[in-house]
Amino acid sequence: MHAPKQVPTQAYRASLLHFIDDPRLNEQATQWHEDGLLIVRDGRVQAAGDYASLKRTLDDAVEVQHFPGKIIAPGFIDSHIHYPQTDIIGSPAPGLLPWLEQYTFPAERQFQDPHHASEVAAFFLDELLRCGTTTAMVYCTVHPASVDAFFEASSSRNLRMIAGKVLMDRNCPEFLRDTAEGGIRDSETLIKKWHNKGRQLYAITPRFAPTSSAAQLQLAGELARAYPDTFIQTHVAENRDECAWARSLFPQARSYLDIYDGYGLMRQRAMYGHCIWLDDEDRARMADTRSAVALCPTSNLFLGSGLFDFKSAEAAGMHLSLATDVGGGTSFSMLQTMNETYKVARMGGCHLPATRLFYLATLGSARSMQLEGCIGNFAKDTEADFILLDPQATPLMARRTSQCNSLEELLFALALLGDDRSIAATYAAGKQVHVRK
Ligand code: GUN
Ligand code: ZN
Repeated sequence: MHAPKQVPTQAYRASLLHFIDDPRLNEQATQWHEDGLLIVRDGRVQAAGDYASLKRTLDDAVEVQHFPGKIIAPGFIDSHIHYPQTDIIGSPAPGLLPWLEQYTFPAERQFQDPHHASEVAAFFLDELLRCGTTTAMVYCTVHPASVDAFFEASSSRNLRMIAGKVLMDRNCPEFLRDTAEGGIRDSETLIKKWHNKGRQLYAITPRFAPTSSAAQLQLAGELARAYPDTFIQTHVAENRDECAWARSLFPQARSYLDIYDGYGLMRQRAMYGHCIWLDDEDRARMADTRSAVALCPTSNLFLGSGLFDFKSAEAAGMHLSLATDVGGGTSFSMLQTMNETYKVARMGGCHLPATRLFYLATLGSARSMQLEGCIGNFAKDTEADFILLDPQATPLMARRTSQCNSLEELLFALALLGDDRSIAATYAAGKQVHVRK
């Protein structure tokens, strides 16, 4: 008999940042250890805290990897992104609906080819990891094979990913159209195949109300009730033309959001992209149902969709998370997304502290998805998805961060000036999955 193989403990020493609560509501929420230690065992966090106190708990045989000047933080969680739009990022069009017609639908058509889907999925995941994003809620295309390709690529890297097949049975090109029943049947097959398989999670994904019939939304709501721990993702109230279109297709609904509500699509683990043109009744409904917002500032600015209203969202107690929305979004980097989030909030008269931006990209996002305790911070036994941030990634950043007098100033400089170059390394379930060249 062989003794079970001992999985070695890993220990990482650097400054350490994570959150145990929302820093807007709790002064003790930000956990910062200037000289910190993260101990990982079996792919999970064993302990996180001050080096001086935790070092004593380590077996002498454990080698501590030391990264002076770097910051260990939880991997970023991007709550809304389209992997099939990787190749059309930064495509010019005057607004959402022309952009969908001219670029998005032709790009998504190519995912009928599983080889293409696998090739793009691999590039997409590498790009996320290069930017320090370890979890994302991902739209695939209408083709079930695009979901298989994505989850195969994600599970082979042992990443915690959430994804789903787009449901779309009308108002789109014939080559991307499913049927109400066929789309739901395929979704259920994919749930059984992938949901909770390893680290993979499934999201029921009606693209948006204009491209689903009432029958399809009805069946999507029934599927969501039958599988209550699955996720739901869709778009809402992104663009004024889209809002008018949705209202004209569902005249009985009180509002655009109310269309989804009427079909049972608002609940925990439902993620609504954009949420720009909501009213107060919608906002209250988002909070009451614990549905969450995926805030997509680079996309909203790029497509000219509008500015997210932070003050009203916070007053209503809505659950917020940050998202890139690539390819409508113009960067895979959650640091760049924080940068634009800050400016959008500023245009609405708010000043978002950097601690809040980092919270929204980590624990805030995990909470929005009911994944606290699994990912998003360094609580004991959470999955060890983390990054090494480099405040000196560029000559300018080195110069700026050498002048910072507080943690807030340091994190603010990282959020406003940082990008993929600021990610020195990325780890998923305790394994290094990216190192900056
Ligand atoms: N609304 C419906 N589909 C899409 C999409 O692919 N991107 C964005 N930004 N909005 C949408
Ligand atoms: Zn989107």
